[in-house]
Amino acid sequence: MGKASKEKTLADKRLRLDKLLSNMGYGTRSEIKKAVKQGSVTVDGRVVKDSGLQIKPKEQQVAFNGEQVIYRDVIYLMLHKPPGVVSATEDSRDQTVIDLLDTNDQVLQPFPVGRLDKDTEGLLLLTNDGQLAHDLLSPRKHVSKTYFARVLGEEAVGQADRDQFASGVELDDGYVTMPARLEIEQTERTDEGWLSLIQITIQEGKFHQIKRMFQAVGKQVIYLKRLSMGPLHLDETLPIGEYRELTEDEIELLRSHRAENA
Ligand code: URA
Repeated sequence: MGKASKEKTLADKRLRLDKLLSNMGYGTRSEIKKAVKQGSVTVDGRVVKDSGLQIKPKEQQVAFNGEQVIYRDVIYLMLHKPPGVVSATEDSRDQTVIDLLDTNDQVLQPFPVGRLDKDTEGLLLLTNDGQLAHDLLSPRKHVSKTYFARVLGEEAVGQADRDQFASGVELDDGYVTMPARLEIEQTERTDEGWLSLIQITIQEGKFHQIKRMFQAVGKQVIYLKRLSMGPLHLDETLPIGEYRELTEDEIELLRSHRAENA
């Protein structure tokens, strides 16, 4: 479908008033029905009493207790993931990244695009746009991901590791990774051995991939943070554990990146 006709379809889309308000986190359908009956809701400035009214959310102005309801059906969030939370929508033991979101955002049912280990920090995209998520995660698309890591070893990370990572590393299960780019920022001798601060860019997302790549060359990742995913970079002004919506520019970057890699 062309962009213009897709926009037209969106503008024409109708939704029941109670569904629109519950999608936006204003309460359950029955709570909303009650609030509508009590006159708390206006459509285009007029009080309405029928919660089953069909609304064009892109065209009509809905207000709840005088506050304008901003209608969204897709959501794109950038989370600065803290350690200690799992990249899942539900977990019986651990806090999940979804638990870090406001209810207003949770109601749109975003999910994490890919997984970071529980102890990994940094950029995590959350969305309910299944197609975009699928495209970013598809192994065929080789979306690059850059991480910062602190690595311990008996030797510093060096040229031999850089060469090996560039040609592919054999992991513990026999899988040989795709070429990865390694940049060494700093190395220093410590009481526990050589500590290296590095950046690594990989194009795939195997389980514990970076930790296992260093393990394969006799070293240990002791800290890992994702800095970017495709064209999307972690906003370093975003405090750890906090999130924000992507800007229009960031969404556009992701969309055009997808088109280039289609
Ligand atoms: N590689 C890892 O080892 N862990 C992550 O969380 C991401 C990439």
